[in-house]
Amino acid sequence: MKILLVTSSARGHALAEALHRSPQKPEIISVCANNNPGIRAIASQMHVQNLMDFESIVRIVKESTPDLAVIGPDDPIGGGLADVLEELGLPTVAPKKSLARIEASKGFARNLMEKHGIKASPKFRIFERQANSQRDLLEEEKEMYTFIDQELQGNYVVKYDALKGGKGVKVSGEHLMSVDDGMQYALECLNECGRVVIEEKLIGVEFSLLSFVSGKQVVDMPAVQDHKRAFDGDTGSNTGGMGTYTDANHALPFLTAADVKRASEINRQTADALLRECGEGYKGILYGGFIAVKDGIRVIEYNARFGDPEALNILPLLSSDFVTVCQAITTGELTEDLVRFEKKATVCKYIVPKSYPDKKDEKGMEVIFPSDLPDNARLYYGDVSADEQGRLHLGGSRTAGIVGIGNSIAEAEKVAQEICSKVQGPIRFRSDIGTADLIQKRSQMMEDIRSVSS
Ligand SMILES: Nc1ncnc2c1ncn2[C@@H]1O[C@H](COP(=O)(O)OP(=O)(O)O)[C@@H](O)[C@H]1O
Ligand SMILES: [Mg+2]
Repeated sequence: MKILLVTSSARGHALAEALHRSPQKPEIISVCANNNPGIRAIASQMHVQNLMDFESIVRIVKESTPDLAVIGPDDPIGGGLADVLEELGLPTVAPKKSLARIEASKGFARNLMEKHGIKASPKFRIFERQANSQRDLLEEEKEMYTFIDQELQGNYVVKYDALKGGKGVKVSGEHLMSVDDGMQYALECLNECGRVVIEEKLIGVEFSLLSFVSGKQVVDMPAVQDHKRAFDGDTGSNTGGMGTYTDANHALPFLTAADVKRASEINRQTADALLRECGEGYKGILYGGFIAVKDGIRVIEYNARFGDPEALNILPLLSSDFVTVCQAITTGELTEDLVRFEKKATVCKYIVPKSYPDKKDEKGMEVIFPSDLPDNARLYYGDVSADEQGRLHLGGSRTAGIVGIGNSIAEAEKVAQEICSKVQGPIRFRSDIGTADLIQKRSQMMEDIRSVSS
């Protein structure tokens, strides 16, 4: 059994590890964006290259004849790598380009949900650059202004309508301080990619529910909460994610059972809508980004892949064979029985260079991780590279995800925190992720939002 794994970062390391521990003992052929020491230690072949160089990936497939492919990141998925691999006859765990629009175009996702009666979007409008006279353009601008100012009352979010590495969304009150700021950014999006999504700013608590999907078959993973802000107390710049946690019951402390059930239902409806819209089934990971609001659950966005760090929490808990799950996704034989998760909580904390995400001052500096980890911990390497002596050096992005596993979030947090505090080098991490204090704050916020009478 040979598996082509197209990845980068700590999510890639977690995927490689989950495939590697399969009783089917697959050989892993890795195509990776950097020389990831974690993947290198597991894979039998390591091709370090640009993941958008599909021609080179095709050459590797022809030479090494894998039986299955798994694609990790959004860019190659959005760019249609699954179509290219399937064309070669290689069953692939990742949606084809047309289905991956659920992530690559936020406008497509909103329209799809609306068209198929999935009532989980905020108020939104999509503006397109199709006007051809100066007068039409002015009309369009006026409409946009009225939508932001009158209909949304200045509480709005502007979304660039293409993949932008998590940097295309700007929120009023955070990045955009006036209606004019919003207009300026919306026009910038229109000029750059021809389409912009403007939507109502929702107030609530965010969480993710990822599902394995094969057409109409949808099997959920434990719900996860991510922390995007750079510093403790949710302060500082937005990052790729500083850490995440899951609970032993696979739900989250601030959600009701009905909330999780509703998110699960929305993922099912969305998989079904994709099948009807695109004429073929979605095969891969469907990642619902949700927000629990006053009167239920709404969708913030969809991703067409595992999240990073979400994958770092979820994959270590998978006690059934990940390779079998991947095979079932490609053959359409996915069932609940194939997917089993341990009833444990996890807390992931990302080690990042001190000046991340604003600067890359520590790039190239050495980082030293504790040499042995307890059984209830995992370390997944991200943007870090090994030199000839085996010493590790920081890249500019997130360095490594450290995961603690326990019977409760508190127990898992202690494990992760202890290992993080032993890492040496010009790094930092968030001490508050997974602590009782932070979780209490989330629950309190949810309670406050839901108790206000409208
Ligand atoms: N409608 C919305 N209401 C409130 N906040 C939003 C809304 N849409 C996006 N956000 C905020 O912006 C962040 C990024 O938006 P998202 O749609 O997830 O795009 P991406 O992850 O591609 O940057 C979200 O995690 C959320 O905090
Ligand atoms: Mg997001």
